[in-house]
Amino acid sequence: MQAFCYIAFLVPTPDYTIISMPRYTHSSNESFADRFIQQHLPSPLQQWSLDQLSLHTSQQDITLSIKRDDLIHPQVSGNKWRKLVGNLQTIQDKNRQTVISFGGAYSNHLVALATLCANIKIPLVAIIRGEEPPIDKWNPRLQYLQHLAVELIFVSREEYRQRDSSDYQKQWQQRYPNSIVIPEGGTNTDALSGVGSMVEEARKQVLQQHLPPVSHWIVPVGSGGTVAGITTTARAPEKVWGVCVLKGAEYLEERVSSLLKTKTSDQYSKSDYKIWHDFHCGGYAKQNSELIELVKKITAAGLTLEPVYSGKLFLALQQWLANGIFPTGSHIVFIHTGGVWQNHQPSVS
Ligand SMILES: Cc1ncc(COP(=O)(O)O)c(C=O)c1O
Repeated sequence: MQAFCYIAFLVPTPDYTIISMPRYTHSSNESFADRFIQQHLPSPLQQWSLDQLSLHTSQQDITLSIKRDDLIHPQVSGNKWRKLVGNLQTIQDKNRQTVISFGGAYSNHLVALATLCANIKIPLVAIIRGEEPPIDKWNPRLQYLQHLAVELIFVSREEYRQRDSSDYQKQWQQRYPNSIVIPEGGTNTDALSGVGSMVEEARKQVLQQHLPPVSHWIVPVGSGGTVAGITTTARAPEKVWGVCVLKGAEYLEERVSSLLKTKTSDQYSKSDYKIWHDFHCGGYAKQNSELIELVKKITAAGLTLEPVYSGKLFLALQQWLANGIFPTGSHIVFIHTGGVWQNHQPSVS
């Protein structure tokens, strides 16, 4: 408690409003995951006309749906819930006492994980890439992590490169007995089934809304877990297209196929997955004027995008449509994976 007061004293007044987490009404044998699912899922599957989004194509009869996973929850949004729900189960099944994970100072993954860990009352240790900024320069995400009492450990970029090495991870686990490591971005085999359940959820909505069968699932790619999870559940002739947001990340194909190999199901081999490497705009979080204008325009049209992930996916979609790459009658599902920083923060109760 004393430590918390000390931290609270050091941290500048947050530039966001703290609001309370919604109160769940639940019976005692419901798990936190059950309650979360009841409260926040399914995420909407929305129909958008190409005109509404200033998209043009010479092909006829294209259906565009947007899977609004960005609306799931202010902090556990987009692919975060999908990737972390399976990890949450493992933490609880193995009765782990501490969670260790990795990310940059703007990590969506750490924000989501911190929120979940706070709710299940398990401490989180976050290894952060790069030098610690002066406390008065902490961005709202770091402030949020601090608010949730996450132990923040800043390491040099050089050291951070070891984040996926099992020896390096073991060293951290030795420091925190009975801990579990969740890799950067929450991408591991435990992430796949939660992402796959998003595909099943969307397929049900397609039937309920009397839409044509899905031809393309499209999604941004960072660490590859989301595109891998979708691929495990996609069925031929559906295609899964990922748009890589990093430059020079051709290693992702290998990573995705090794994640897929861990699945015993052979479903994934029937679907055609592909990662596109031409829409990174210069690299991770890099932006050019075309991207900036597009994000502004589409956000003004009512679909909030951000430039790091969903903006680049939209840029790809715009180009694919203009190039007439989708066959007539295609039904494209754009998966909005979130990442839009909300200007209000739930506290945990
Ligand atoms: C908002 C958002 N969209 C997409 C991705 C990419 O997902 P993945 O790392 O599973 O490829 C991330 C990173 O996890 C993300 O934060």
